Amino acid sequence: MRSFLPLVLLVLQGLSIAFGGPSTSKKIPRGFVTTRGRDFVLDGKKFVRWLPLLTEQDDVESTFQSMQDAGIKVLRTWGFNAINGSELDGALDSGLTYYQVWNSSEWALNTGPQGLQRLDKVIETAGRHGIKGAELYINWIVGAGQPHDVFYTDRRIVASYQRYVRAIVERYKNSPNIFAWELINEARCLGDLPAGPNCVPFSGTISRWYEDQANFVRRLDPFHMITTGGEGQFTWRNPVKYWANGVLVSDYNFDGQAGEDFDKDLALENIDFGTYHMYPQYWYSDLDFPGSNFTLKSWGVDWIDHHAKAAKKIGKPLILEEFGTSGFENKTDIYPTWVKRALDTQHGIMPWQFGKLGLTESGGNRLIKYADALIDGASPNDGFAIYPNQTAIYNIFTSAARVQNARSR
Ligand SMILES: *[C@@H]1O[C@H](CO)[C@@H](O)[C@H](O)[C@H]1NC(C)=O
Ligand SMILES: *[C@@H]1O[C@H](CO)[C@@H](O)[C@H](O)[C@H]1NC(C)=O
Ligand SMILES: *[C@@H]1O[C@H](CO)[C@@H](O)[C@H](O)[C@H]1NC(C)=O
Ligand SMILES: *[C@@H]1O[C@H](CO)[C@@H](O)[C@H](O)[C@H]1NC(C)=O
Ligand SMILES: *[C@@H]1O[C@H](CO)[C@@H](O)[C@H](O)[C@H]1NC(C)=O
Repeated sequence: MRSFLPLVLLVLQGLSIAFGGPSTSKKIPRGFVTTRGRDFVLDGKKFVRWLPLLTEQDDVESTFQSMQDAGIKVLRTWGFNAINGSELDGALDSGLTYYQVWNSSEWALNTGPQGLQRLDKVIETAGRHGIKGAELYINWIVGAGQPHDVFYTDRRIVASYQRYVRAIVERYKNSPNIFAWELINEARCLGDLPAGPNCVPFSGTISRWYEDQANFVRRLDPFHMITTGGEGQFTWRNPVKYWANGVLVSDYNFDGQAGEDFDKDLALENIDFGTYHMYPQYWYSDLDFPGSNFTLKSWGVDWIDHHAKAAKKIGKPLILEEFGTSGFENKTDIYPTWVKRALDTQHGIMPWQFGKLGLTESGGNRLIKYADALIDGASPNDGFAIYPNQTAIYNIFTSAARVQNARSR
């Protein structure tokens, strides 16, 4: 029903966000960002996933410098990178960054120089370039052949997830370089794994999980913002429908099959702002084809509007934190429309994903993991990377950053 971008391959860059004056609601430590109504207050932010995977500090520095030059204030990076015990020898040989080593149903934390110390450096460097990072975690325990439900409901899995979250949050909770914590990347019921009986539309399973985990993180860290990291699907009694090849279809992104309930999740006490993602080209094989009654561009505009409306109703800020289309022509045709609509409806924007040229490690060529590779000094490209030499695309986002930064003054 939809094809997913493999989680481990995504890299992200973001532009953001509107800011107002200092918060009055909580006693937030100096340098921490918080929310006031639909605004983020204090600093700005943007995102990149592959940064902790780099081995040369010079490359990390130059990447942050490029982001700073592009007007980026917040970046998003993964707080998880797990390997199998069987992969450990290979990881040690290749210098791969890893935070967790799985050994049957248990894992060991790697706080060493090839582990969390690399994330430490990224977070510290971000601060020096005026950039903040939001952490994403996902946890890995779901065994082969199990439905997605187990991840959200099995006590052992939840305990293991919380043990990892505690390790990361405790490590960085005093850092003003953290913008916010994301509980997971792209929680789903039906998706890359099937949904089981506890994850049907209106079961509320993911909402309950978000609530419990947001409360858990809030107890560990009273001051940083918390958000879901979700794709932002709705669970509506009257979902949007569309015509595909002559058939009226109930839209997965609105009918609850995905498992998220954007309206309900954003209203949770410890969810400070909303996130959603947008890859309609991959979500709808019938888009732009005969028999479909909408286009890639128009579906995206509607998706943006639905989220803006929901966030306005609840009164919290909103970040379109991942989106993309394939191909240079599609990007130059579609991104300006989407970006403008998001800016016009009070969004933070984080396109997937920031591309960096001129990286030096291993002479600029190294296989990082799976398909992620540095090639001729270019950061990994999953088809969505936006490199500075692609000026027609890159400028869409540097202009958006200027608009956002001007609004934040
Ligand atoms: C990790 O090991 C398990 C068990 O051998 C295997 O099923 C799984 O595919 C491995 N995962 C990765 C990411 O290599
Ligand atoms: C995996 O578990 C075995 C047995 O408990 C232990 O000897 C080994 O050190 C563990 N490996 C890792 C990488 O944690
Ligand atoms: C497509 O058709 C459905 C059913 O008539 C309608 O609800 C929907 O608004 C249409 N979408 C667009 C983008 O016109
Ligand atoms: C542009 O988008 C269309 C519609 O999804 C797709 O068929 C086409 O392959 C894309 N172009 C490239 C170069 O990816
Ligand atoms: C920009 O750099 C990328 C990565 O090295 C390369 O693949 C691409 O051809 C370059 N594009 C232009 C327009 O020079």
